[in-house]
Amino acid sequence: MSRGRSDRDLGEREGGGRGAFALDAAAQRSKAVAKAAWWTAAGGLAKFMTRPTEGKAAPRFASDAPPVSQGRLRRAYFAAFEKDAADVAAGLYPPMEDAPVDPAASILKAWDFLADAREVDQRRRRGDGVEVRDDPKSQGYPAYYRQNFHYQSGGWFTAESARRYDAQVEALFSGAAGAMRRRALSLLARHWRGRDQRVLAAVDVACGSGAFLRDLAQAFPRAALAGVDLSPAYLSEARTRSGRGTVQANAEHLPFGDGSLDAVTCVYLFHELPPRVRPIVAAELARVLKPGGVMAFADSVQPSDEPQLARMLEAFPAYFHEPFYGSYAEEDLPALFAAAGLRVVGQDKAFLTKALLLAK
Ligand SMILES: C[S@@+](CC[C@H](N)C(=O)[O-])C[C@H]1O[C@@H](n2cnc3c(N)ncnc32)[C@H](O)[C@@H]1O
Repeated sequence: MSRGRSDRDLGEREGGGRGAFALDAAAQRSKAVAKAAWWTAAGGLAKFMTRPTEGKAAPRFASDAPPVSQGRLRRAYFAAFEKDAADVAAGLYPPMEDAPVDPAASILKAWDFLADAREVDQRRRRGDGVEVRDDPKSQGYPAYYRQNFHYQSGGWFTAESARRYDAQVEALFSGAAGAMRRRALSLLARHWRGRDQRVLAAVDVACGSGAFLRDLAQAFPRAALAGVDLSPAYLSEARTRSGRGTVQANAEHLPFGDGSLDAVTCVYLFHELPPRVRPIVAAELARVLKPGGVMAFADSVQPSDEPQLARMLEAFPAYFHEPFYGSYAEEDLPALFAAAGLRVVGQDKAFLTKALLLAK
């Protein structure tokens, strides 16, 4: 991928990228190419393996929105990697280890993802998004949480699901998930630039299997960082991956004191929360922040951000069991967070993800 104009501009503006981090940026680009190729191939293979030869037809979906331009989508996809490399060039964070660096481990992960793909597809064809409710492990969790989001095997409740999750997300986004999540890291890194990390504390809420917590740990190695999630299985994966501590807790009731954190981060949680829970979690995220503290948020773009992608965004919940996505798509996020005492001070976007920086 060639270095774009905005990248050069950013490097000059930031006053550091041009020479000092050029090698790092080149490393990030070459990893991005490897990663994109790998996960595009794995996703394509999964689609091929689950083509409709048996069982019920895949869900049918109707929309009035115009077809999505593939050219536009492709440009947005490549721009996500460019933004990521530009931030590395600007010295905001180091190149991240999210390429298929360990060939044996990568092959095993892809193999496991493909082996499970047919099961996921059968669940999709049955329209069975609540299979996990039969699993005793799911007892005692909120009803909204007891779902096979994305039709994934085991929902949030098994170690296999936690190990497989990243492959599923990367295959879904053709290897762009890390670059998209890092729009939130970019906003936080700019905000924290020049600060002494040793006195900063941040928590990644709904850290899942730890992809973003690991990126935070690489970007801010001396800051106090931890992950929170409701899933013990995912937390175990997150600890191994990030080397940081984790706490099992509901984002509706965080186990941190009022005004105790410099930052919270929250990636891909809000589209999985019912509308009545979103304000509760927003208020809780605000409560634990110090005055002047910030939240770095990332989640799906909404149709108002990308009207040309509306059709695709409307199709997403039908194919990936996202029961609350429709209401998320309409949610006025700045208003939701303003009601919790947080105001938008920065924003960014890459491919299918938007990021906001909000200050208390
Ligand atoms: C789509 S995943 C996102 C995970 C991670 N942030 C990422 O970027 O891959 C949603 C995560 O939110 C967690 N989650 C959902 N509802 C939650 C709640 N009320 N409290 C804490 N975690 C929750 C799930 O267990 C899951 O790990």
